[in-house]
Amino acid sequence: MSSITPRFVEELRMRLSLADIVGKRVKLTSKGREHSGLCPFHNEKTPSFTVNEDKGFYHCFGCGAHGDMIKFVMDTEKMPFREAVEYLANLAGIPMPKNSPRQEAYDKKYAGLSTIMEEACRFFQENLFGLAGGQARNYLIGRGISGNIAKQFRLGYAPHGSQLAAHLRSKGYNMADCVSLGLVGRRQDGTFYDYFYDRVMFPILDRRKRVIGFGGRIMGKGEPKYLNSPETTLFHKGEQLYALPNAVETMRQKNSAVLVEGYMDVIALHSAGFTNAVAPLGTALTENQIKLLWQFCDEPIICFDGDNAGRRAAIRAVNRALPILRPGKSLRFVWLPDTMDPDDVIRKKSPEAFEKLLGMAKPLTFALWHSLIEGRVYDTPERMAKLKQDTLNTANQIQDEIVRGYYIKELKKQLWQLEKNKTSQRRTYQNLTPVIAPAPGTLEARMMISYLICYPHIAQKILEDLGALTFGENDLNEAVQTISDLILENPDITTDEMIETLSDDVSKTLKGEIEMLKKSRRSERQVAEELRIWLQNSRIKALEADIQSKMKQFEANSSSELWEQITALKKEIENLQESE
Ligand code: UTP
Ligand code: MN
Repeated sequence: MSSITPRFVEELRMRLSLADIVGKRVKLTSKGREHSGLCPFHNEKTPSFTVNEDKGFYHCFGCGAHGDMIKFVMDTEKMPFREAVEYLANLAGIPMPKNSPRQEAYDKKYAGLSTIMEEACRFFQENLFGLAGGQARNYLIGRGISGNIAKQFRLGYAPHGSQLAAHLRSKGYNMADCVSLGLVGRRQDGTFYDYFYDRVMFPILDRRKRVIGFGGRIMGKGEPKYLNSPETTLFHKGEQLYALPNAVETMRQKNSAVLVEGYMDVIALHSAGFTNAVAPLGTALTENQIKLLWQFCDEPIICFDGDNAGRRAAIRAVNRALPILRPGKSLRFVWLPDTMDPDDVIRKKSPEAFEKLLGMAKPLTFALWHSLIEGRVYDTPERMAKLKQDTLNTANQIQDEIVRGYYIKELKKQLWQLEKNKTSQRRTYQNLTPVIAPAPGTLEARMMISYLICYPHIAQKILEDLGALTFGENDLNEAVQTISDLILENPDITTDEMIETLSDDVSKTLKGEIEMLKKSRRSERQVAEELRIWLQNSRIKALEADIQSKMKQFEANSSSELWEQITALKKEIENLQESE
């Protein structure tokens, strides 16, 4: 690789016009050296995308897309940095910079190593179609892989014995290099043996179709099922994707990619026409692999097996992606039906079935929210609060400010909905003798008080019940007291008057909740209903707490009187739950 210096980049900027380059993609209208048009990075009807020729950058006021000409080419042409520079150098008619001697040496070494890998790949291919390959050919046929696909993916067979070592040696390759590439090992006595033997071989190619590694599958039972090349000078598992060179064209054309778990899945998908499928290389998906996918499409679909491991892998992918999300760049998720992988879906069901699954891909927010609430119970304010805390912490991992803002908004909506559903599960309330409610969670209490502030008329009707509540925080108790007093004094008080009269502290802490309520535009009926349910639930919680403490007493010192009280309390809860 040659070294691209800042000076060279500067040279490109001098020779080329940013507006010209952007103009190839975007229809620009110009006012002097300022140009504007419809942003190519998000959907819009009125132009908020501007190009500043003098400063050499573009900026979109709508989505925040921002960069120079190299970035523009990388993002619109889906090219990696180096290719984008080459493309621009070509436009400018200047040659790419000369390599440094060190770089030259590295390139030469790299080329030498690739030649060995290429030789090994050919050797395996020849063996698949030769005498020794009968069983492997049958294996592939049994798995529905045609000869054409086998050729396209350059599948092979690694024979028994140390035939590859012998072959490479006979060709005169440096055996130390062969060892460093993970193809052969050296025994103590100085002889060499093959790393892969009696396996079906899946060569792994880089973007330029150079062989950089292998995965080898055992045909019968045995461990490991897949043996992969170790990390070498050429092979960096976290930076590459299986079948990338086969998939790049379709990815670009369709602006979509499908990421699956296994080599076989990729091949089954390509056979069935899903030629944008790739897979990680036997390791968890990395940040670099996600970025690599984003070079070719905006929202690659992550498609993992329906088993637990697959689910966990999806959660890991979510966490890898979060910090690096950008406007327009995300992942989508598909979960396959129980214990099926894509290969199974294609062969046991149909390609159409798989297409359908892809159509149901869920956005990353969905996967994230589910990973957050999975396996949790929200029966107490503390647990609810923990969920809220975890949720916000997770969203804060997103580095991009705009994306983060929208995530927080979306997740808060989900939290709110969860709370609402939780309380509406029990929808009964009866005005029984007031009980002292246990301290509701701060979160609940704050929402509650905001209701009172926003709907004073409704609050009026439940003042008596409110009086029986005690909140965990003194400020909140005082706030309820003040609100009650205000409403009693002036039954026609408005929300704004209320906010004005309350202490700054209260209105400041509740600002978020109040705004949320205003935006949610609830009808008075809804609000009354929600308050009613909320009060009723508080009552049930109080009764439950009472039962708990009486049970403890009963355990220590059982009396029939206590037992009757407990039974009565239980009865009361049942009544509450039954009444509509
Ligand atoms: P699976 O076992 O789910 O693979 O592992 P698969 O492709 O469905 O396998 P078969 O051939 O249909 O039974 C998924 C991927 O995990 C990696 C491989 O990349 C494999 O394709 N893997 C799995 C390994 O690297 N080593 C292993 O021992 C197993
Ligand atoms: Mn499989």
